Amino acid sequence: MAYRRQVQQWTLPVAGEALQWAALFGALPVVLDIGFGGGEAVVALAAERPGEAIVGVDVHTPGIAHVLDAIEANFWQHVRVVDGDVLEFLPRVPLGSLAGVRLWFPDPWPKNKQRHRRLFRPDVVAALVDRVRVGGTVHVATDIEDYARQVADVAAADGRLHGGQVDRPEWRPLTRYERRGLAAGRTPHDMVYERVR
Ligand SMILES: C[S@@+](CC[C@H](N)C(=O)[O-])C[C@H]1O[C@@H](n2cnc3c(N)ncnc32)[C@H](O)[C@@H]1O
Repeated sequence: MAYRRQVQQWTLPVAGEALQWAALFGALPVVLDIGFGGGEAVVALAAERPGEAIVGVDVHTPGIAHVLDAIEANFWQHVRVVDGDVLEFLPRVPLGSLAGVRLWFPDPWPKNKQRHRRLFRPDVVAALVDRVRVGGTVHVATDIEDYARQVADVAAADGRLHGGQVDRPEWRPLTRYERRGLAAGRTPHDMVYERVR
């Protein structure tokens, strides 16, 4: 029952009219966290950065519940959750309106023949970059070498992104997913791009 009320109050329907961030968040810059999984990074950064609004999108119910609980426990007004597929949600996001997009350890599809299913593919990246303001960032983290190569290729082909691999930022919260990868011997790659035009 509490969950249903929380969903009503703090989630944004995946489909609907274009959103107006100012009506939700005032003048705060808005970051889209795609595939937040367990929600650890959303919760940690929401606590550290009250001056930044986060919209997290995922279908993972335990993670959604975790973020909703944190929103209520902390009386946060700067976090919203979308329970759904980001591809369905993107039309609601106004063009040029995001300060940033986070795609941290998206579903990896590790095999070459599965590359076309990965979220960081040309059509999706074009739609994402359309929605980032000039000067805003797209930050991908992956521990799949081939995914990192795909990110570099697709970002270069888009033509509006400038950047590349960076050292792992200390501020990016360590999640259970990343920790499991480290334990399995995988290396995270952070790739940060700015929209330059
Ligand atoms: C491997 S987990 C990573 C979670 C988290 N970002 C982290 O760093 O720990 C990837 C998440 O992306 C979500 N995901 C994959 N494709 C998605 C899509 N099209 N729309 C929304 N979420 C998606 C999955 O449900 C999953 O929870």
